[in-house]
Amino acid sequence: MKNAPHTVRIWDLPTRLFHWVLAASVVGLVVTAKLGGNAMEWHFRLGHLVLALLVFRIVWGLIGGRWSRFAAFVYSPGRLLRYLRGTPHAEDGVGHSPLGALSVFALLAALVAQVATGLLSDDEIAFAGPLTRFVSNAVVGQATGYHKEIGQYLVLGLLGLHIAAILFYVVVRRQRLVRPMLSGDKHLEAPAAPSRDDAAMRVVALVVLLLSLALAWWVSSLAAVAASF
Ligand code: HEM
Repeated sequence: MKNAPHTVRIWDLPTRLFHWVLAASVVGLVVTAKLGGNAMEWHFRLGHLVLALLVFRIVWGLIGGRWSRFAAFVYSPGRLLRYLRGTPHAEDGVGHSPLGALSVFALLAALVAQVATGLLSDDEIAFAGPLTRFVSNAVVGQATGYHKEIGQYLVLGLLGLHIAAILFYVVVRRQRLVRPMLSGDKHLEAPAAPSRDDAAMRVVALVVLLLSLALAWWVSSLAAVAASF
């Protein structure tokens, strides 16, 4: 590619799969919440899947490929300011940029809060999260209020920003961001260290994912334990 002769693996396969399964699950969560009724059973299933995905991403942020690690996109305020002033560091365009990183952390935090409050929510008709019996009615009320009145709009707002920012960079700045989230590779002007994305790493990711799914399944099973009391 012109002026960008270095093809570098930036997003490892586990990160890419995480991203697109998360995106599809969140869309499913919004749709099933709006449909209500029997669709809420799928809202619960997808909510537990997103719980597993978030646990996976937190672990992967510590042990995953180089550019997926949190340490690779925690930037100092000075570096963010330089980026915003248009004098970026040479590595700012390799993984998540300083601004993109803020939106990633905000989105992940909002999703963690949404899943946590979902586990503690009760519609007082037919559906209650699996952890409601471990806390007081007041906490259930607050969690339900946050989940329905605040959290869902926060997640939707941050998603709107996420997609608008990507469109801005693709259309106005002519930066290819979406393709690397599909193929894993970026075409860069200068060489950069790649993310490890070999078979051994993928096996590690699979083990972490299976453990995360087991944890989410165990959390969901606490509802049945509660029902038997
Ligand atoms: C419900 C929908 C979505 C959610 C929840 C979501 C969430 C996220 C998250 C958490 C990340 C950080 C990835 C990581 O490091 O783990 C991310 C990055 C990214 N997302 Fe999404 N996303 C959604 C939809 C989309 C869509 C529709 C597109 C494309 C049109 C997109 C394109 C990207 C790209 C290109 C990045 C990497 C940005 C960068 O280079 O810094 N996302 N997204």
